[in-house]
Amino acid sequence: MHFQRSLVVGLIVILQISCYELNKKRFPDHFRIGLATSAYQVEGGWNEDGKGENIWDRSVHSIPSPIFNKETGDIACDSYHKYKEDIRLLKNMGVDHYRFSISWSRILPTGYANQINEAGVNYYKNLIKEIRANGLEPLVTIYHWDLPQPLQDLGGWPNEYIVDLFEEYARVAFTLFGDDVKQWITINEPKQVCQEAYGSGIKAPFIKSHGLAEYLCTHNVIKAHAKAWHLYDDEFRNKQKGRVGIVIDTFWMEPASDSEADINAAERQLQFIFGWYANPILRGDYPWQMKKFIGERSAKQGFKTSRLPEFTKQEIDYINGTIDFLGVNYYTTNMVSEKNDTVRNEVSWEADAETIRFVKPEWPFSTTWLRVVPWGIGKVMHWVKKTYGDIPIWITENGMATYGESLEDDNRIEYYQKHLSYVRDALEDGINIIGYTAWSLMDNFEWQVGYDDRFGFYHVDFKSPNRTRTPRKSVGFYRQFATTRCIVDKSQCVDDNHMDNVLRYVYQSVAVNNGH
Ligand SMILES: *[C@@H]1O[C@H](CO)[C@@H](O)[C@H](O)[C@H]1NC(C)=O
Ligand SMILES: *[C@@H]1O[C@H](CO)[C@@H](O)[C@H](O)[C@H]1NC(C)=O
Ligand SMILES: *[C@@H]1O[C@H](CO)[C@@H](O)[C@H](O)[C@H]1NC(C)=O
Repeated sequence: MHFQRSLVVGLIVILQISCYELNKKRFPDHFRIGLATSAYQVEGGWNEDGKGENIWDRSVHSIPSPIFNKETGDIACDSYHKYKEDIRLLKNMGVDHYRFSISWSRILPTGYANQINEAGVNYYKNLIKEIRANGLEPLVTIYHWDLPQPLQDLGGWPNEYIVDLFEEYARVAFTLFGDDVKQWITINEPKQVCQEAYGSGIKAPFIKSHGLAEYLCTHNVIKAHAKAWHLYDDEFRNKQKGRVGIVIDTFWMEPASDSEADINAAERQLQFIFGWYANPILRGDYPWQMKKFIGERSAKQGFKTSRLPEFTKQEIDYINGTIDFLGVNYYTTNMVSEKNDTVRNEVSWEADAETIRFVKPEWPFSTTWLRVVPWGIGKVMHWVKKTYGDIPIWITENGMATYGESLEDDNRIEYYQKHLSYVRDALEDGINIIGYTAWSLMDNFEWQVGYDDRFGFYHVDFKSPNRTRTPRKSVGFYRQFATTRCIVDKSQCVDDNHMDNVLRYVYQSVAVNNGH
C-alpha cells in the first residue's frame, strides 16, 4: 500500500516536471534584473593602498592552506583595478542593477571606525559613480563574509562586542555612500557566516564549534542587523530615502514522502536554515521548532540551559520588524525525511534538526552541493509568502557552476531559463518579488573550492595577468532577458500589462513604506 502510494506520488512529480511549460509572459518593467559579485571574490588588491587583513586573507595564507589547490583571493578577478571594465560588461548586458559588497578592511583597516582608509573609500566612491554613470543601480552588501582579522582576534561574530562595531561600520558606509546608494543589504547569507564559519568550520575563520559558537554567532548577527537597520531608520532614512534588507539563503526542502513525520521534518529543516534568521527579524523570535528541539536535546545532553540563546523581551521588541525587503538566495533543493534520533547525543546544528537530507540521482549535477532543481525556487517563494506574509522579496542570488574553459554553457542557459520561468509563475501567483539577481557576472574565487567552480556568465582567465573576461554563450541569453524581459524569443513573448500595474503598486508602497 505504502509502495503504491509513493509510486503514485512519484508519477505525479514526474508528470509535473515533464509537463512543465515555460512561462512566456514578459516580466514587468518595474521588476529589477541584475547581476552579483562580492568583494573578496572579485577585488584582489588584498594588501593595496592601506587595506587591512581580513579572515579570508589570513586563512588563504596559512600553512597548510585550507583552500583547494592552495588558491587565494590575492588578485582574484583584479576588479580593484578593472572595475570600469566590469561596469562596461554589466552595461552591455542591459541589466538594471549591480549587487556588490564593501570590504570592511578596505575602508576600516583595523575594523574599528576610528581610522578610515581614504584610498579604500575612494575605490568604492569611484565604483558607485561608474555604476550610476552607466545608468545602473547599486545594491550594496555591507558584510559578505570578510571580517577584519583584528576583530576575529577578539573572538569574531560569537563575541557580542561585534554588534556595536558592526553598527559603527554601517554608520561609516551610510554616511560615505548613502547619498548614492538606496538599496542596502546588511549581511549576506548569515547561515554561512555562522554555521559554516564557526560550526562545521569549512569557511574562514575555519573554527569548529558544533552546536555552540554557531548559535552564539547567529544571536549577534541578528542583533547587529537590527542595530544597523535602526541606525538607518533613526538617522539616515529621512535624508537618504533608501531601504535596508538582509539576504538569507536556503535550499528548498522537499518532504521525502507524504507522511506527517516527513512533512514536519522538511518544515523543521527550513526553519533551521531560513527561519533561524527570518523568524527573529520578521516575527520577533527563533522558530518554535528550534527552541523545542535544541532545548530538549541540550537538557538530555546535560547542559544547564539550551545551547540556543534566548532573546530578552526588550531585544525581541527591538529586533522584530527591522527589515524593508527580504533578500533570498536560492540554488538547489534537498529531499528531507524524519530522523528517528532516540539517542540525541550529538551536539551540532546538523543533528539538532533531526532530519535526513538527500538528493535524487536524476537531478542534474552542477557541483558537489548543487543539483539543478528549478521548481525548488518556486516552492521557496510560496513558502516565504505563506510563512512571512507580503514582505517584498528580492532574489539576490541564483546560479550554477560549470567547470573548465568551455564557453558553450547551454546547461547554464537552461538553468536560468527554467528558474526564471518559475519566478514568473510566482509573480502571477501574487508573490511580491521585486527583483532578480543572477550569481555571477564572472567566474570568481569560490571560497574553499578556489577557482574550480565557475559561476560566471563571463569566463575569467585566472592564468593571465590580465584576468581576461570572455563572454560565454549564456551572456547572450541574459542580455536578451534583461533587454526584452522575456525568457523566450521576443516573437513568442506575451505581454501582460496587468502584472505591470500590480508590481508598480508594490514598488510604490515599498518606496514610501518608511513608517516603522
Ligand atoms: C512581532 O511583530 C508583529 C507585528 O507587529 C507582532 O504581531 C508579533 O506579535 C511580534 N512578535 C513578538 C514575539 O512580539
Ligand atoms: C524510533 O526508534 C526506536 C528505537 O529504535 C523505536 O522503538 C521506535 O519505534 C522508532 N519510532 C519510529 C516512529 O519509527
Ligand atoms: C594583456 O593585455 C595587454 C594590453 O592589452 C596585452 O598587450 C597583452 O598581450 C595581454 N596579455 C595576455 C597574456 O593576454
